[in-house]
Amino acid sequence: MHQRVRKAVFPVAGLGTRFLPATKSIPKEMLTVVDKPLIQHAVEEAREAGIEQFIFVTGRMKTAMEDHFDLSYELEATLAERGKTKELEQLRAALPPAGNVCYVRQQRPLGLGHAVWCARHLVGDEPFAVMLPDDLVLAKTGCMKQMVDVHAETGGNVVGVVDVPREHTRRYGILDVADDDGRLATVRGLVEKPAPEDAPSTLSIIGRYILEPAIFKHISEIGRGAGGEIQLTDAMVRLIGGDRPFHGLRFAGRRYDCGDKLGWLEANIAFALAREDIAEPLRRILAEYR
Ligand code: UTP
Repeated sequence: MHQRVRKAVFPVAGLGTRFLPATKSIPKEMLTVVDKPLIQHAVEEAREAGIEQFIFVTGRMKTAMEDHFDLSYELEATLAERGKTKELEQLRAALPPAGNVCYVRQQRPLGLGHAVWCARHLVGDEPFAVMLPDDLVLAKTGCMKQMVDVHAETGGNVVGVVDVPREHTRRYGILDVADDDGRLATVRGLVEKPAPEDAPSTLSIIGRYILEPAIFKHISEIGRGAGGEIQLTDAMVRLIGGDRPFHGLRFAGRRYDCGDKLGWLEANIAFALAREDIAEPLRRILAEYR
């Protein structure tokens, strides 16, 4: 029996420069897809996967997220007074149990690897999930639930992967694969942003990871990498070939890169079309733009 994944780290301290001016005073993770902020989509995916503790790595200007996962007494009282029970129930259901959300500040945005490292004392010595809220996955069974189920069988490290067109490998972290059954790939290497002709595969890592705690030691040793940032990928490379397995899971579902304007717009359309209450009227509106 492998140790269960109980904790998830949400690195949310980035500046979100691709989304300025929207992100000048609002965190990127509070941008909504249909009617929920990205961070709530991610937390719900984590809860579906059985995650119990939610660790946010935040920075300045990010307090909107802390408020979002806190009780809003005035709002709840007003909704109750006005008999808006459905809205009230929705708010209450979205609130994780008291004491299960914690926050740590990254202080300076030195990169994703550094953000994850800032959570080391809160994670401790157990496998944990990392979820980037700007990667949003539309799936019947949540992406992290699929990964946690695989982890229960394999243990070790598991990353969510998607096949990308070979001409796009330069944008992503790409797996070098030893073995592949079409769903689960055994990883033997990891290459950051390779040229199409050098890419060892077309399997790209998305913002869903289950990592062994050994990653923290590796992060503290690697120093700055591409773009002068402390890169999570550089530390993950050191996990490969160790005493614990490393797998890539082609999850069932579709990923939307909501850190990018077009990806975010597409996610809004896809998630709205998946909603019974909005799909039909939206289809009619979209037809007018053909
Ligand atoms: P991105 O690469 O999307 O960077 O980070 P960003 O700063 O958020 O956005 P752009 O590129 O300037 O538009 C991926 C994830 O890692 C987090 C971000 O918050 C995001 O969830 N991150 C990144 C940190 O928490 N700290 C960092 O130093 C960098």
